[in-house]
Amino acid sequence: MNKMQTLFNWAQQKNCAIVAFNISNMEVMKGITAALNNLQCPAILQVSAGARRYTGSDYLRALFNTAQANTQTTLVLHLDHGDSFELCKDCIDHGFDSVMIDGSHLPFAENVALTKKVVDYAHAHDVWVEGELGEICGIEDAVNVAHSKYTDPAKAREFVQKTGVDSLAVSIGTAHGAYKYAVGSTPALRYDILKQIHAAIPDTPLVLHGASSVIPEYVTTINQFGGQIKDAVGIHERELARAIDDGVRKINIDSDLRLAITATIRQYFHDQPAVFDPRSYLKEAMKTVTAVAERKLKYYTLRNDQSLGQDHH
Ligand code: G3H
Ligand code: 13P
Ligand code: ZN
Repeated sequence: MNKMQTLFNWAQQKNCAIVAFNISNMEVMKGITAALNNLQCPAILQVSAGARRYTGSDYLRALFNTAQANTQTTLVLHLDHGDSFELCKDCIDHGFDSVMIDGSHLPFAENVALTKKVVDYAHAHDVWVEGELGEICGIEDAVNVAHSKYTDPAKAREFVQKTGVDSLAVSIGTAHGAYKYAVGSTPALRYDILKQIHAAIPDTPLVLHGASSVIPEYVTTINQFGGQIKDAVGIHERELARAIDDGVRKINIDSDLRLAITATIRQYFHDQPAVFDPRSYLKEAMKTVTAVAERKLKYYTLRNDQSLGQDHH
C-alpha cells in the first residue's frame, strides 16, 4: 500500500491530522526530525517548486532520505502545489510517495482534465495524488491568489468522481503566507462549508493549506528586533484543530517555521552582535523549528493522546 494511504488510514482511525511541513534546507529538516523523534510521530515532508529551485531536487531527496534513516516513524515525501503534469511526472519518476496537482486557478473542466492526467500516471506508479478545488488566497512565491473562492461541495463530489483524486485541498477561509487576513477583520473558517464538503465526499481525506497560525510571539520578536512584519495575524491551532472533526487529515505548515526562524536569528544578532559563525545562530534556529514542529504535532496529530495533558486538547 502507498505510504500516504497508510498514514491517512491511521489518521482516520485516530481522528487526527498529519502535519505536512515544507522543507527547503537542512536546518528545517533536522529541526523537524528531532521533533518527530522526540514525540515518535509521523509526518509529511513536502517540497514546493520554489524549494526545488532553491535547494535542488537531488539535495532535497538526500535530506529526506537522511531524515528517514534517522527516524523510527513514517515520513512521506510529497510535492506541494505542483503546477504541471511534467513537474508531477518528474517527482513520480524520482520516487515521491505523493504529489499535489494544483489546478485550482483553472476553469473546472480544465482542472479536472489536468488532475485526471496526473492521477492516471501516478496511480500506475502507486503514487498518491492531492488535488485542489476552490482557491485559497494569500501571496507566496508560486501561490498567488488575491481572493479566496470557497470550495463548492457539489463540485467537490463531481471533481473527485471525475478525476479519481485521492485527497482534496479545500478553500474554507485559510490563506497562505503571514498576511492572511485584512487588518481589523476577524479571521474565521467556514466550518459550515467544510461540513458540507465532508458529507459530499466522506471517503476523501481533506487538506488544509495556509494553516500556519502566525504565532504572535514570533511576530512580536521579529518586530522588536528590527523586522517589519506588520498586521500579520492568523488563527490559533486550537481553533484550526476543529476542522479535523470534519474530515481534514492533512494540515500544511510553512510560514510558522519561516517566522520562527527569522525571529530567532533576529534576536540572536541583536543579543550576540560579535558572533559571525552561521552554525551558532542556525543551531538556535533549528531548536526553534523543533519547538514549532512539536507544537503542531501535539495540536493536530497527537490531539487525542492523553499523555500530553489538557493544553493541547
Ligand atoms: O504554499 C506554499 C508554500 O508555503 C511554499 O511556498 O512556493 O515560497 O516555497 P514557496
Ligand atoms: P502557510 O503559509 O500558512 O504556512 O501554508 C503553507 C501551505 O499551505 C503549503 O502548501
Ligand atoms: Zn499551500
